[in-house]
Amino acid sequence: MSESVLSQAAADGVVQITMNRPERKNALDRASYTGLIEAIAAAEADISVRVLLLTGAGGCFTSGNDIKDFAMAAAAGEGPKVAIDFLHAISTAKKPIVAAVEGFAVGIGTTMLLHCDLAVAGCSASFRLPFAALGLSPEGGSSYLLPLVAGSKKAAELLMLGEPFDAATAAEAGLLNAVVEDGSALETGLARARALAAMPPESLALTKMLLKRGSAAAVAETIATEARHFAERLRSPEAIAAFAAFLKK
Ligand code: COA
Repeated sequence: MSESVLSQAAADGVVQITMNRPERKNALDRASYTGLIEAIAAAEADISVRVLLLTGAGGCFTSGNDIKDFAMAAAAGEGPKVAIDFLHAISTAKKPIVAAVEGFAVGIGTTMLLHCDLAVAGCSASFRLPFAALGLSPEGGSSYLLPLVAGSKKAAELLMLGEPFDAATAAEAGLLNAVVEDGSALETGLARARALAAMPPESLALTKMLLKRGSAAAVAETIATEARHFAERLRSPEAIAAFAAFLKK
């Protein structure tokens, strides 16, 4: 498994998966996505694992897709295939996933929360869906799931204006279960994960399946449709200019 994603037992039945590129605010490059996909697959296959706890190193969840990778994909005429594979893995995982967020959760760092079963964040955590501002378009099933959990007006505000929003707003928008003291998201997330790990696993898996059943087909279809638009937007002059502006800083 790549160094950019760490997997370790955090408690009985709980595996902690940590996005680990702190010098890049845990930006997700190809190796990170591959690491996440492998970590999720390994946890799903391991009968001793009952719950996945997803977090980021260095007081940051993730700054989203690595913009250098976006620029390289655009130059090569490629789409975001490995990111889509990760979204497929996280959105179809059968075991419960708990997210513990500190610091920044940008782009896919925010949209992946829509696929986690529980999520907690430190009160200073900062969220952002800057797709339109970057010349891109929504991903991660967010164009379907965000209106569902946040309401259509809030979803339009967050996805169209793309301004940063705080943890209280994220909780109100249905992205979080709880806002906790800064620095205690992991501890709280682990406590929730341990509680889930102590539940009868078959019943828990069935509960998760039933909770997701009604939206599963629409989520899969939305992720695929968004991915087609996103791949085109990656090559657009608007996106190429936005990537260059970020990388020039
Ligand atoms: N892709 C590539 N590099 C990134 C990155 C990303 N998504 N996010 C941060 N980095 C890099 C920065 O360029 C910087 O590199 P440097 O040390 O060589 O200058 C380093 O990580 C630290 O980030 P920095 O911007 O200095 O931290 P900050 O605390 O001032 O700001 C963010 C943090 C997350 C607000 C800011 O980095 C940011 O806006 N990142 C881009 C987020 C984004 O648009 N993601 C794509 C979503 S689709």
